[in-house]
Order: sequence, then structure tokens, then C-alpha cells
Amino acid sequence: STIGGLGDLAGRRVLVRSDLNVPIKDGVIGDDGRIRASLPTLIKLAKAGAKVIVTAHLGRPKGEPNPAYTLAPVATRLGELLQPEGITVRFATDVTGESAQEAVQELDEGEVLLLENVRYDPREESKDNTQREALAEELAALADVFVSDGFGVVHRKQASVYDVARKLPHAAGGLVLAEVEVLKKLTEDPARPYVVVLGGAKVSDKLAVIDNLLAKADKLLIGGGMVFTFLKAQGHEVGKSLLEEDQLDVVRGYLKEGADKIVLPTDIVVAPEFKADSPATVVAADAIPADQLGLDIGPESGKAFAAEIAGARTVFWNGPMGVFEMAAFAAGTKAVAQALTEVDGLSVVGGGDSAAAVRQLGFADDQFGHISTGGGASLEYLEGKELPGLAVLEED
Ligand code: 3PG
Repeated sequence: STIGGLGDLAGRRVLVRSDLNVPIKDGVIGDDGRIRASLPTLIKLAKAGAKVIVTAHLGRPKGEPNPAYTLAPVATRLGELLQPEGITVRFATDVTGESAQEAVQELDEGEVLLLENVRYDPREESKDNTQREALAEELAALADVFVSDGFGVVHRKQASVYDVARKLPHAAGGLVLAEVEVLKKLTEDPARPYVVVLGGAKVSDKLAVIDNLLAKADKLLIGGGMVFTFLKAQGHEVGKSLLEEDQLDVVRGYLKEGADKIVLPTDIVVAPEFKADSPATVVAADAIPADQLGLDIGPESGKAFAAEIAGARTVFWNGPMGVFEMAAFAAGTKAVAQALTEVDGLSVVGGGDSAAAVRQLGFADDQFGHISTGGGASLEYLEGKELPGLAVLEED
């Protein structure tokens, strides 16, 4: 009935930081993988008789309440998923205010309470330590112990991830432990060739990690929105494609440094508009028309990437190759996913978008070595960076 040396938790108030940051559109949850991944720790605690208080974020609401980012639909989904276990889920409409305090007081042993989006509070992401600590103090006052189980946010030095752990007896939850165990295999002496596939839309986030990944991996295959900054850096026109002008110099540096490691697509699927029914054509990567934008890697590139992956013994993939949500631009992501399922070695899919992509494209979780709930977190772990949310758990 314990977790990470926290002792008997029956009757105790346990604050859990989970990563419940799932895609939601018009109040409807898309892929609920992160909610499902958070269940085992919550169930374990509830069955141990703890009063379970969950804090989490959704999206980036910029420090103020915003109904577009409410966790209410997540509380509902959590309730549906825990109902078969006989566990009741409650929801507080604020982070640490009256609603949260009252709900904690009324919470019974074996029940779960989800607090509203912690990023409604500007102190959560503040760069000012005293601001963050003040929020952490309020969170800590709601509970007796803290369990860190939101692997997807351990790279964030934020009040509910980092500071609160310093205010309460704490331990890592089962999800964090399981994620770290797999990622350790990728960092400590990975079987080679070790291929990393990078894509996705958070372009500047991804560009920042390439440096370190170039030092660790044998090959770096690049797709997704980031590709166009690379093509432009090589001197090609990219039309209306996504482009980070201010990163061109950095990318030129990567192209030089990683000349023998970086693999770029040779063909691109383009369309005149960012729309599912916009007429798609395949063009050479160095011949993107001025009035079109790139929305996926082309078929020739899909084959080339798949061949690189097939020859690998360790593969880490983060970020879709194109706009997989639209059928016309999903083939590149599908080709990469298919290749990962055939790897003779360890294959890891990282990040909410990539996990959602493989599921939406009809793949099953068990076709991959591991599907990580962390995007940025897993990338930073692979880079060998110290993650604040993990480091703090080592402190007394
Ligand atoms: C993620 O989606 O990777 C995590 O939930 C962290 O979200 P963030 O990038 O907004 O901090």
C-alpha cells in the first residue's frame, strides 16, 4: 500500500502531478493515451486508501483562466475510465482556491480529485522563484505527500512539477519510473546504428535539441514543419511553407556539422492551402512552387527514411512527418510508423502527437517497443540534459 518509500498512504492526502495534456477540439478529447497512461498510479493510490489529489495542465493558457483550456472534459473522461474500478472522480473549478480547498476537505479515502488547469495560475510557469514557490506552498498545503507522475512535464521547472516536490515528502510514480527505465536504454550504450527521426510542428523547440542529438545518434532523419527551414538554409525556395527565418544561421551550422548524419527529404507533398481537400502534388524538395506549401514528405523520401530505419538497431521517433490528421498528407508519417514496427531492436515513439498519430493511423501500441508520453521531456532526456522534475526527486 505504499509508493517509493512514502509509507502507508491509507487516509493520507496524496498530491499527484500527472500529464493529462491531451488534444481537445470543441470539448471533445482526441487521443486519450496520456490519461490512460496516468491511471495505474491513480488506481494504486486510491486502492491503498489515499485521498488522491491530481494537479495537471492543459495547453498553454498564459496564466489566466480560459474556458478553452479547462480540464473539465478530462475529469469526465477520467471518471469514465476509473468507474469500472469503483473509483469516484471529482473536479475542482480552481487550482488552489476555495473550490479546491473545499473539495479536498470533502474528499473520501479512495477517491480522486482533479484540480483545474494549473496553468490558469501565472505563478506556475513564472521565472521568478518566489512566485513559483508561493504557488507550490498553496499546492503543498492541500496534501501530505507528493507523487511526481507527469513524465511529459519533468523537463519543465514549474511550480507543480519542481517546486512542490521541495515542500513535501515525495516520490516518483510508476509512469515516471517506467519511462526513465526505457529511455535509459537509449542513452546508455544504445545498440547501433542508432537512428533518430524528428518531425512535428513545435519547430523552434525541436531545432534546439538537434545539436545534442547529432552527438549521440548515427543518423538524424528530418521531416515535419522543420524541414523547410533546412531546405531554405540549403538555398532552396520553400514557397508558403512553415519557415523560421531567425533560425537559418543555426540550421546552416547543423548542416555543416552533421553533413554525414542529417538526412533530409528529397521530395515533398505540396498543396496551395492548408486544407484537407486542397489539391496535393509531389514535387522535388528543391522545386517547391512559390504559391504552394509543403504538408508532408514525399513517397521517395518515405521509402528512403524507411530504409534507414530498417537498418537500425535502435530508433527514437518524435514528431509526425506531415499533417497526418488530413489523409492526403499522412503517407510520410505512416511510412515511418510502419518501418518502426519492423525494427529488429528497440523502437521508441515519443510525444503526444506521434503517439496520437500512430493510433489514428491504425497501429497498435504493442507494435512498438515503447510509446513514451513525453515529447519534449523524452527528447531532453535523450540529449543527456538534467531534467528539473527528475533531479528534484533525488533531493531529500
Ligand atoms: C507536452 O505536451 O509535451 C507536455 O504536456 C508539456 O507541455 P508544454 O510543452 O506546453 O510544456
